[in-house]
Amino acid sequence: MKILITGGAGFIGSHVVRLFVNKYPNYQIFNLDCLTYAGNLENLKDLERNANYTFIKADITDENVINKLFAKHQFTDIIHLAAESHVDRSITDPLAFVKTNVIGTMILLNAFKTTWQNNFEGKRFYHISTDEVYGTLGETGLFTETTSYDPNSPYSASKASSDHFVRAFGETYNLPYIITNCSNNYGQNQFPEKLIPLFINNILNSKSLPVYGDGNYTRDWLYVKDHALAIDLAFHKGKNGETYNIGGFNEWKNIDLVKLLCQQMDEKLHKPIRTSEKLITYVKDRPGHDLRYAIDATKIKNELGWEPAVTFEEGLSITIDWYLENEQWLNNVTSGAYQNYYQKQYI
Ligand code: NAD
Ligand code: DAU
Repeated sequence: MKILITGGAGFIGSHVVRLFVNKYPNYQIFNLDCLTYAGNLENLKDLERNANYTFIKADITDENVINKLFAKHQFTDIIHLAAESHVDRSITDPLAFVKTNVIGTMILLNAFKTTWQNNFEGKRFYHISTDEVYGTLGETGLFTETTSYDPNSPYSASKASSDHFVRAFGETYNLPYIITNCSNNYGQNQFPEKLIPLFINNILNSKSLPVYGDGNYTRDWLYVKDHALAIDLAFHKGKNGETYNIGGFNEWKNIDLVKLLCQQMDEKLHKPIRTSEKLITYVKDRPGHDLRYAIDATKIKNELGWEPAVTFEEGLSITIDWYLENEQWLNNVTSGAYQNYYQKQYI
């Protein structure tokens, strides 16, 4: 098997690449990533010398390059993670999200279709998506695989659009695909623009913790390595043409999560209780902010036998420890362009 993993230098992608390279020495793993601000080869330093691992620096929106790469390597499978992934950035620059998430996905679908014509036997296009395509829940209920798409941000609209194109290629050209829609991930190597690593970094630097609105927004959190294991299972055992929801069965209101994070940080940094909590600052809300996401992951549990293994308290503790032990990683990714981004977003 020659598996093309896109976005493998990013947060989730790096965990997926590591899992596949180490677990399946007989597969050739190609990690294709153009290394945006969110892509970082430091995330994969330990794999550089593996015989079954190749890094390709390329942009999925570059049709010529992508077509040439497919012609050269004849990738048998794709696990497609490359995307612009941050909702706040999609609000300031929506077109970038259409280019990468919609056009980039289309270019990959076309290249895959052209390479294999109608000879799709044993091949697979696995599209990694998000629960945000379903829009927002009220106080109750869960997203299932049959919930209607109702995206509210440019990010989620671009992901919804890419999901539709994948499905359309399945219906129109019999392209063998699966899609998984996952809830909020957290863990090692997440770029500090997302809630948990941003707040860890700010506590380390005694900077305020900008909670949007009243903080009563709810997300369903999943440890990234549990997501990678779900991807492994869905890739190998999922049925073509199916969608699977992946979630943590783990809902937290933002403000409660932030308080737990503050408490764990105080303990680990040997600070008096409630030191970090004092940094909490309520700021202007995110436009179009979805109230609540929560996944019903019964289908993947019943059909493929997947369940999250790591509890939230445990996963959060492992995550904080990783950031404390890897301050150099944090310093590297928060220098330069990050400072401009932070100024624009928060100050
Ligand atoms: P990330 O932003 O950390 O990483 C994205 C990676 O894609 C980076 O390495 C970046 O360099 C690469 N990339 C971006 N544009 C590219 C392009 N044009 N060509 C090639 N590479 C490009 O994202 P993440 O949080 O790891 O998310 C990965 C995937 O999982 C995305 O598709 C996202 O929508 C989905 N997802 C994320 C979450 C989450 O909580 N983070 C949850 C559900 C689904
Ligand atoms: O649900 C899956 C999605 O989760 C993924 O598809 C996205 O790629 C990923 O970014 C994430 O989206 P969110 O918008 O939910 O994640 P984020 O970490 O940006 O925000 C989590 C919650 O915290 C959300 O309600 C907004 C809030 N928040 C976020 C930031 C960055 C704040 O209150 N303050 C902040 O500074």
